[in-house]
Amino acid sequence: MDKPISKTDFFIVKALEDGVNVIGLTRGTDTRFHHTEKLDKGEIMLAQFTEHTSAVKVRGKALIQTQHGEIKND
Ligand code: TRP
Repeated sequence: MDKPISKTDFFIVKALEDGVNVIGLTRGTDTRFHHTEKLDKGEIMLAQFTEHTSAVKVRGKALIQTQHGEIKND
């Protein structure tokens, strides 16, 4: 069984094309976008789940790595 997700764990998003969006969604009863980061090809974002961010949406071709594994979005 995997470890439960911890707010101190990082996940990595590597953009495989220009204009990939990494969108943070708010924690709590009101689920909405609170931040969008635009990555160009080859750019990497390291981020965590925090008291403000409970979910992340990735739009565009990207490689996403978490402690649970790796997924390619294409
Ligand atoms: N200010 C945001 C927060 O502390 C920054 C952030 C953390 C974020 N993880 C993210 C933004 C993931 C977008 C996606 O929660």
